Amino acid sequence: MITQLAPCIILSLYIVSLYCDNICVTYRDIFYLIDIKFYNLCMSDKIDKIIEKKLKDSTNKELYNFLFTNDGSVGLYNNDVKDIYHSIFGAKDEGWQKFIKPLNFDKVFFNKKEINVLDICYGIGYNTKALLKKIITSSYNGRVFIDALEYNKELVLLSPFIKDGYFKTYPEISQVICKSLIDSIILNKNSLSRIFINKSNQKYFEPFYNSLIKKYKYWGYSYSILRHNKAFLHNIYYHCISQRMKTTSKQRILKDVTINPHFDDARVTIQKLDKQYDIIFLDAFTPSKLPTLWSIDFFKQLYKLSSYNSLLVTYSNSAAVRHALIDAGFYVGKIFDTSGRSSGTIASKNTLLIEHPLTDFDFGLINTTAGIYYKDENLNSTAKEIIDDYNKRRQNSNLESSSKFIKNFSKNKQENNDAISC
Ligand SMILES: C[S@@+](CC[C@H](N)C(=O)[O-])C[C@H]1O[C@@H](n2cnc3c(N)ncnc32)[C@H](O)[C@@H]1O
Repeated sequence: MITQLAPCIILSLYIVSLYCDNICVTYRDIFYLIDIKFYNLCMSDKIDKIIEKKLKDSTNKELYNFLFTNDGSVGLYNNDVKDIYHSIFGAKDEGWQKFIKPLNFDKVFFNKKEINVLDICYGIGYNTKALLKKIITSSYNGRVFIDALEYNKELVLLSPFIKDGYFKTYPEISQVICKSLIDSIILNKNSLSRIFINKSNQKYFEPFYNSLIKKYKYWGYSYSILRHNKAFLHNIYYHCISQRMKTTSKQRILKDVTINPHFDDARVTIQKLDKQYDIIFLDAFTPSKLPTLWSIDFFKQLYKLSSYNSLLVTYSNSAAVRHALIDAGFYVGKIFDTSGRSSGTIASKNTLLIEHPLTDFDFGLINTTAGIYYKDENLNSTAKEIIDDYNKRRQNSNLESSSKFIKNFSKNKQENNDAISC
């Protein structure tokens, strides 16, 4: 019942807020409260049902399941963490809307000769792919180095072949990723074949991979030397997509893009990297489900790796995440989607790059229990250790609760508005 009524209540409040100037701040704040608590509760209930439906036919009870998201691109569900890897509304669209659009690429990065990118939690690569699309569409012709951090090697190696919605229009995206990963693809051909041979998985991959694998299965065993295998795979790849490649202009070929995969815990990898990055994507699982990549200590490492004009982008709106980013040294702002809803967080060393800074309300929320962040001093604690420590600090905290803060904030705003209108 509550789930059915919620959208109506939210919509009515929002419409009222648009028409009543005097009370708009109050209603918008209430809307925000609903947004972060009630709305999310209702949405997560709805989302769970959609996921359940999407996974109904799946026979794969392994670490992850494939599913089609609503924009037709393939997404994943993790059975261990019990979390989605991508928005069910569109895996491809999410990469573009939440990670590329906020970068303001044409203004901030286009004139750079070289861009260094850190894609934390590469998965099947939607954020990197969206960036490659941006590079093509804006005709950026500098050098791009992408360090892709992901501990599930299998996903990374599957990424060029996934039905991601890019292949028809931008085959060179898959090509450049394939080229960067070819050695690992060959070394891991057995485990990859296991996935491709499974009939129920085949609909999630571009058809060219099936033909690649068939030919590989037929020929593969007679070529045991790595060099031959590599040349062989390249040939088949070009054979499969060459028709499309002929239609692409030279300019659009991503010849100066290098992708380096790092198959390890991102906490380990970032301690070994010594570059200064211009763009950082942080796309870890939901903080409360897997807090390992959301701690203040992880963010301090990211701060060290950020260039002065860098931008770090994440989908999280959490007050605790924003608080940890601020305490790690970043200036922090908000990201909005096309309908004006807050859809993530952006952080930089350079305050001028923050287009939508946090509001008084956001800062207030950060100083409540909602702003208590995760700690992982040696960057090697388990998720359970991090959560236990967090719960202990939260229980012993005498900070105001977030709901009390929101109630008072709305009341004070109302009083201020009354005073102004008198
Ligand atoms: C929400 S998904 C990211 C989806 C991804 N950006 C994509 O486009 O497919 C989170 C990813 O983080 C990876 N991951 C989780 N914890 C990690 C860690 N500590 N180090 C490296 N990768 C991690 C998971 O394997 C998963 O692929």
